[in-house]
Amino acid sequence: MTAARTAVVTGASSGIGAATARKLAEAGYRVILTARRKERIEALAAELPHAEAYPLDVTDRAAVDAFAASLDRCDVLVDNAGGALGTDPVATADPADWRAMYEVNVLGVLNVTQALLPALTASGDGTVVVLSSTAGHGTYEGGGGYVAAKHGAHVLAETLRLELCGQPVRVIEIAPGMVKTDEFALTRFRGDEAKAAKVYEGVAEPLTADDVADTIAWAVTRPAHVNIDLLVVRPRAQASNTKVHREA
Ligand SMILES: NC(=O)c1ccc[n+]([C@@H]2O[C@H](COP(=O)([O-])OP(=O)(O)OC[C@H]3O[C@@H](n4cnc5c(N)ncnc54)[C@H](OP(=O)(O)O)[C@@H]3O)[C@@H](O)[C@H]2O)c1
Repeated sequence: MTAARTAVVTGASSGIGAATARKLAEAGYRVILTARRKERIEALAAELPHAEAYPLDVTDRAAVDAFAASLDRCDVLVDNAGGALGTDPVATADPADWRAMYEVNVLGVLNVTQALLPALTASGDGTVVVLSSTAGHGTYEGGGGYVAAKHGAHVLAETLRLELCGQPVRVIEIAPGMVKTDEFALTRFRGDEAKAAKVYEGVAEPLTADDVADTIAWAVTRPAHVNIDLLVVRPRAQASNTKVHREA
């Protein structure tokens, strides 16, 4: 029996990745959830109709290659693993933070995409989704390292789309603005809950992980000849990276 159409989601242990795994399972995909936290992906996989968990650090190329070799097929790859560290200005930011953000947001996407591209192509109708950000399309003060990394993710997606033209693989970039997930801001502020909460303070309705997962599932489930190149999605209260309406 041939395996069901298979979607791999990186960073599926929380936030947008976890919500995307749920939506793609609802859409009928067999979903492979990957992230570093094994217990979380195993718990979520157990809830879904046809899902598996595979612990994976996307910055570990040897582990990524072993993961790719273990797959019998791959039709959809959602390169979601990523995140921000700090809001220090360029003048004083720690280069180690910049390096870590480049590692996961750019090289992590490169590692998994390169490793799964043969399977995506062999599927005859493959889709790569790169989760960049509105930080990949404009900057803001204190955003430097994250903005640079997400511009890298955006450029990777654009370049790959050009290079794959004529082959049966779509490259979709989803660029969300402010999304209130449990961990994104907490990770950025290294566990400081008060600082993390301030990011969303007074914003009536930031996007949710489900909102973004919905756009991903929609883009992925368009007919094969329809490539949603880039989808920018923000909450109504956010007109740009620097203009956010906050209620008093
Ligand atoms: N929240 C926002 O406002 C927002 C806006 C635009 C774009 N984004 C982007 O959307 C994506 C998801 O964000 P989110 O808000 O859902 O954040 P999140 O809840 O912090 O999720 C990040 C996910 O990435 C995984 N991850 C981090 N480093 C990894 C690594 N080296 N290898 C494998 N997995 C790794 C984490 O899992 P483990 O720790 O278990 O490995 C986690 O599942 C990120 O790329 C983020 O940059 C977020």
